[in-house]
Amino acid sequence: MSHFYPLKIKNIEKVSKDAVSLTFDIPLQYIPQFRFKQGQFITLKINIHGENVIRSYSICTSPYSEKELKVAVKEVPGGKMSTYINRELKVGDTVEVMPPSGKFYTELNSAHQKKYVLFAGGSGITPMMSIIKSVLFIEKQSKITLFYANREPDNVIFKNEIDTLSKNHPQLKVVYIFDHPPSMDYPPEQSGLLNEEKIKILLEKHSSLNADEYFICGPTPMMELIENTLKKLNTPTEKIHIEYFTAIETNDANNTTTEEIESEVTIILYGIETTFKLKSNDINILDAAIQNGVDAPFSCKGGVCSTCRAKIIEGKATMKVNYALTDDEVKDGYILTCQAHPASEKLVVDYDAL
Ligand code: FES
Repeated sequence: MSHFYPLKIKNIEKVSKDAVSLTFDIPLQYIPQFRFKQGQFITLKINIHGENVIRSYSICTSPYSEKELKVAVKEVPGGKMSTYINRELKVGDTVEVMPPSGKFYTELNSAHQKKYVLFAGGSGITPMMSIIKSVLFIEKQSKITLFYANREPDNVIFKNEIDTLSKNHPQLKVVYIFDHPPSMDYPPEQSGLLNEEKIKILLEKHSSLNADEYFICGPTPMMELIENTLKKLNTPTEKIHIEYFTAIETNDANNTTTEEIESEVTIILYGIETTFKLKSNDINILDAAIQNGVDAPFSCKGGVCSTCRAKIIEGKATMKVNYALTDDEVKDGYILTCQAHPASEKLVVDYDAL
């Protein structure tokens, strides 16, 4: 099970009018824990005015060409963590960080001659930066097309870095899309909100049909629209990679279990057992465990990050959504406790199981 590690902030940089990047100082003894793959994320825990707030952010650096751990955080109106990071966090401050996690990547190989197509919306650019720089560094013969949608030019995160990368690497093509385009004669398919027709035109115009890999990260409606359009174009599902955690919608009132049962739930964490009663139509197992004094790990609470992953040792549970576990993991009894409800009268859940 992952733990939080105290890391110092080494650098803070403004990367757009409403976003900053944070670079972390990794002490020698933590280097093995903080090795990462392109496209992964880390989870931060910061005590903000007396309250522990936990959020996940994608890494925007490449593990191959930069070897620095950096994330970008866009200030979200009313967002506790993003506002604190953008306005109050200082170089030299220490924050609690959980090691990198996530499956938003494919294996790279210098012999590959692949075509990658990336769709990013707003802060969904962060994992793409890591992917782009890694592909350019490892796969010199692969090609990348980045479609990057923003409200207006001022909101573009990493604009200078993206433009420099595309200038220095002809195999990277960047297509900016704006809700409010900078001029009247901006291409119509790159202006206004995306729709199916515009996506098809963009893919055709920029030779992006039949790519080897499609990566999508941004607001949920945009991701769903692009995914559905790609599927209508007969793109095989295994070529479509989606990072959901930047835009999670949860509805704790929903529950997949119809018949209510009362379960005796035992949680194992750090070898310590905690037992409590929980009804199947009540709150999820993670929240119930926390209410019963268990220091259970979590981040997104949206079924995406897998920080709350645990294994069923005895009994059954159902999950509302699962964007993180593979079919094999589910078959092996793993659940996302933030999405899980008991479905048997006795349930034993082990957070220590690897
Ligand atoms: S806390 Fe992220 S999947 Fe449960």
